Amino acid sequence: MPPARPEFSPLPRHVAVIMDGNGRWAESKGLPRYKGHEAGARTVREITEECARLGVQRLTLYAFSAENWKRPKREIDFLMKLLKRYLAGEQPTLMKNGIRFAAIGRLHELSADVLGEIEKTKAMTRENPKMTMVLALNYGGRGEIVDAARAFAGDALRRGKVPEVTEEDFAKYLYDPAGAEVDLLIRTGGDHRVSNFLLWEISYSELWFTRAFWPDFGIPQLHEALSDFAKRERRFGGLPER
Ligand code: FPP
Repeated sequence: MPPARPEFSPLPRHVAVIMDGNGRWAESKGLPRYKGHEAGARTVREITEECARLGVQRLTLYAFSAENWKRPKREIDFLMKLLKRYLAGEQPTLMKNGIRFAAIGRLHELSADVLGEIEKTKAMTRENPKMTMVLALNYGGRGEIVDAARAFAGDALRRGKVPEVTEEDFAKYLYDPAGAEVDLLIRTGGDHRVSNFLLWEISYSELWFTRAFWPDFGIPQLHEALSDFAKRERRFGGLPER
């Protein structure tokens, strides 16, 4: 692993990104919206590789929200096709860079072909040691907490009793328990909201908002977010260390 760059130290272990602004990026160039999503997929590749290179351990990307089904069918179909194409095309790069692939969300509601490609990519990259890249697909933060509560209740019923439950115990029922803490949440596209993303996981995240549309969010912009994160004092409700 290359030595951590001092300006990015401490490096966030878990970075999450709300990749917004693909449509506006395309419109600003007089292009159809789908061109923005294609350009966004190229940014996904670039940012994923750079995060792995720098030593980020987990990168969670909001690729399709549970609310995105409200978009026109043509756009949804395009996004699903792009996702399948991206996964199939990216498998060699994930292997080369030692990146493990995972996905969170109500995945069972996705089409069989998309689900098949997800499972294939997960299986192929399972042993990769470097970074875990997680795509949030058909994902909603409230839905995740409800799904965790359902799974918790199911276990309690099977055991015949409701156990004492701590936050740590409950977090084991999240889609991706290893990703239960996000250190840095980035949102591109100029809006200042969290849009139902990782509600449990971002409780103590540092937030970074940029006006840049996702296709324009390159390595320099990622570096800017990381060096700003490195300067923040995280107190987790306590007092500063003196
Ligand atoms: C927001 O842009 C982005 C999305 C709804 C989906 C994110 C998808 C990608 C980055 C491309 C595909 C991803 C992968 C992993 C292959 P928007 O359309 O809401 O932009 P707007 O706010 O300007 O309309």
